[in-house]
This record gives sequence, structure tokens and C-alpha cells, in this order.
Amino acid sequence: MNFKIGVIRGDGIGPEIVAEAIKVLDAVADKFGHSWEYEEILMGGASIDKYGIPLTDEAIAQAKSADAVLMGSIGGDAKTSPWYKLPPDKRPEAGLLGIRKALGLFANLRPAYLYNELKEACPLRDDIIADGFDMMIMRELTGGLYFGERKTEEIDGVLSAYDTLIYNENEIRRIAIRAFDIARKRSKKVCSVDKANVLDSSRLWRKIVDEVAVDYPDVECSHMLVDNAAMQLVKDPAQFDVILTENMFGDILSDEASMLTGSLGMLSSASLNETSFGLYEPSGGSAPDIAGKGIANPIATILSAAMMLRFSFDLDEEAKAVEDAVTKVLKDGYRTIDIMPRDKSVVEQINTAQMGDKIVERL
Ligand code: IPM
Ligand code: MG
Repeated sequence: MNFKIGVIRGDGIGPEIVAEAIKVLDAVADKFGHSWEYEEILMGGASIDKYGIPLTDEAIAQAKSADAVLMGSIGGDAKTSPWYKLPPDKRPEAGLLGIRKALGLFANLRPAYLYNELKEACPLRDDIIADGFDMMIMRELTGGLYFGERKTEEIDGVLSAYDTLIYNENEIRRIAIRAFDIARKRSKKVCSVDKANVLDSSRLWRKIVDEVAVDYPDVECSHMLVDNAAMQLVKDPAQFDVILTENMFGDILSDEASMLTGSLGMLSSASLNETSFGLYEPSGGSAPDIAGKGIANPIATILSAAMMLRFSFDLDEEAKAVEDAVTKVLKDGYRTIDIMPRDKSVVEQINTAQMGDKIVERL
């Protein structure tokens, strides 16, 4: 098969981790007889440096013409980077939100899975994670607080600001359908997370999710308030299969879940629209503090590339091969610094490029 992959290397550790994912994708192409054509796309800080804005029309057109986009991360250190002297809508993050919206990427899938080999890196007590956990966070990605009207203004000499959390029923329905479809292929449980005891948008969310659930009698549907969900994630993460939630709650809960897997560097993600197109990126950020040091964990990006093979190219066997190679590397005792266990003598610490190589060797 032949596919065109847009590549947004991005800022911070982005270029380092994307290089490893491309190494792995190339090895997959060799092994299974596919070919990928890569097209470099500038976004975020890298685009600001060249064009003065974080996302150009050309970048959107390039992404649209690709079968899928692989992304590293965007953004820099908010205290020191000149990008953050710009108005908010010209900063790197605006590029990311812009491309999500422009491509209609409403469904953000963030799988959080605890590898047996990484139990030592998980901050939870041994008895809590005895049976591991395997959940899929389905985060709505193009609505809610991120895209509602916002303003900062002075009213009678007092500064005030507002953001708007708005969802319509169609936006809720399409992400709920995705969540139930995915639950069907997993452990058949959807837990929808909201704040229905306070927010109107959450009450509508709950109503629509319940309506969708009727069409999936084989899938168990439950609801949980977001504050309780944050607590349950650390109390008993194994109870979750698919967590379905709105944009902001999903942003927060997915960072929390990622830490439970051992490191933000383990959490992959796929952002999908109604077609097979997707944007694939690690859930973590650009980590400017470690950029250029060659120590970042490329696994989340490599697992995101595996999601690309599965969801956009329908290459299940190839995706599985990549996932198995990652598991094998961890089994063989190789770790980047972020997932080192307390007892360092039992594993070998390796750098970003070595991790990519080890995964390729095991493909
Ligand atoms: C994420 C990130 C982004 C978000 C930021 C960089 C705007 O935290 O992908 O989770 O909040 O969506
Ligand atoms: Mg986030």
C-alpha cells in the first residue's frame, strides 16, 4: 500500500520523537512491502518563526491532502520563549487548536494502558494496580470551552474575563457514537464523565449519551461526575474501559491517566474526523526543559504511529507488530529515563534514538 503522511515535527522534543516514529514506520514499510511518502508541514512555534503565525492556510491544505498526519508536539517555555509575547491567538497552541478545528478532528482517542513491565514506574500502590488497567479516553476535541466565545474586558474599571462552554446535541451524539463503537471492540463499557450536578452543557451531554446508549444494548453505559472520576482514576483505574468526556475534562483526565501508566511519554493519541483521516500525536507536550538532550521517550509517538496504521490505513497486523515490538523492548529491560524503576539495577537506561533502534530491531 501507498500512503501520504504529513509530518509536523513541531517544537521542543517534537523533532526528536518524530524521527524515531519515522524510523519505525520505515521499518514497517520494508517488512510489509508498503511505501510512505512524507510531506513536512510547519505548525506551532516553527511556523511562527518562519511565517509569523502558528498555522498557515498552506499547512492546512497540506494536511488535508495527506492520508494522515503524524505530529510531535508544539509550544515552548511560556516564561522564556518569545512566542508567548504574542497575543494568545498567535501562539503555538492556537495552531494546534486551529488544525483540529479545520480538519474537523472531533474524536480524540487516548489509550492509557499499564504495561506489566512498568508497574514499578506507576505512582499507585501495588495492591491498586495488581491487575493492571486498560482504558481508552475518548475526548471531544472541537467543542466546549476550547472553542466557545471568550473575552477579557474592563467593566467599570474592573478587569474580567469569560469563556463559554457550549455543545450542541449533534456534537455530543457523534462522539458518543464513536465511544460506543470502540467500546464494542473492547470490554463493552462506556463511562461518560460530566458535571451534570452543575452545568447545563453536562445535563445535555448526559441526555444525549443516554439516547445513544439505547442503540448499544450490549454495551454497559454509566455516568460519573468529573471530580469523582479524577478520584476514581487513582483509587481503582481498572474499573474503566472507555471514558467518554468533553474537551476540557478530557484534557485534564488524560494527563492524570497518563501518569498512571508511568509517564506522559507513554500516552499515544489519535484525533479523528468522520473519514479515515487522522492526526496522530503523543498526548504529552513539547517538554522544552529536555529538548535537544536526546533523552525524551519516543514510545508515545511510536504508538501513535501504530494507531495511524490501524485507524487511517486499516493495517491492523502492522499496527500490532509495532505494539508488540514496544512490549518486547520493555520486557527486554530497556527504559528511557522517565520510566526508570526505583531499582535501577534490573534495567538498562537508553536514550531516544536507542529506543527507536531497539523497537525497529524487534519488528
Ligand atoms: C493536549 C494539549 C493541548 C490541549 C494544548 C497544547 C493546547 O494539552 O493535546 O492535551 O489542551 O488540548
Ligand atoms: Mg493536555
